[in-house]
Amino acid sequence: QYSILHGEKTLITSHRGFSAMAPENTLASIDAAIEVMADYAEIDVRMTKDGVVVLSHDADLKRTAGVNKKIWQLNYYEIEELDVGSWFSKDFKDERIPTLEQVLEYSKGKIKLNIEIKNSGQNKDFEKKLIGLIEEHGFEDSCIISSFSYDSLKRIKKLNPDIKTGYILSAVYGEFYNLKDVDFFSMRYNFVSERIVTEAHKTGKEIHVWTVNNETIVDRLTRIGVDNIITDDPVMARSIIYSKDF
Ligand code: G3P
Ligand code: MG
Repeated sequence: QYSILHGEKTLITSHRGFSAMAPENTLASIDAAIEVMADYAEIDVRMTKDGVVVLSHDADLKRTAGVNKKIWQLNYYEIEELDVGSWFSKDFKDERIPTLEQVLEYSKGKIKLNIEIKNSGQNKDFEKKLIGLIEEHGFEDSCIISSFSYDSLKRIKKLNPDIKTGYILSAVYGEFYNLKDVDFFSMRYNFVSERIVTEAHKTGKEIHVWTVNNETIVDRLTRIGVDNIITDDPVMARSIIYSKDF
């Protein structure tokens, strides 16, 4: 039955931007997510040595730029000219690593963001900087923040309790629903059951699910009432979710 928390259809989050259409975590991939009207674009953020918040899933630049260096070891000026599009396709050779600030400016009024904090431990000001940028750009209601690190989410809530936070879980251990500094759980699809969704909703928390690229699984998750599906293929997810009359 249709049991979603806020009584809407399951929302769609385009993973790393629309990363099946354009190189992940670039303005081109966010643009592609906007074009297909995803509800959210998920992006991964890290901090450079000189404290600039930039988009990258990996800690190093090997896969996306062919450079075997870690982002936290480099200053922004050392990475801003790198081509992070050609590995995906020659058509994207002009893509650069965007700063979060550029992404906020670009996305405003067009798409909401799920900002995933990667390895915040390396810089103790990471969360402060992130919240500062979100507030400066008026994104408090247009973004959610997720992380595998509960400590990081605790710091976020302390800085701004109104911003929604999500704890990313790659497995399920015992009863986790009552964690205080969390508004939603972001779970690997194979761990999500109807019972988990029901229990989470009882405590007022949402269930987001990643990374779902299979039609049958989108269908199953939608039926058990998950709130948000994170996918590399938002067009496929939309066609399943909107073909249902529930
Ligand atoms: O948002 C959840 C998902 O993005 C976590 O996995 O490795 O793609 O960041 P990863
Ligand atoms: Mg991510």
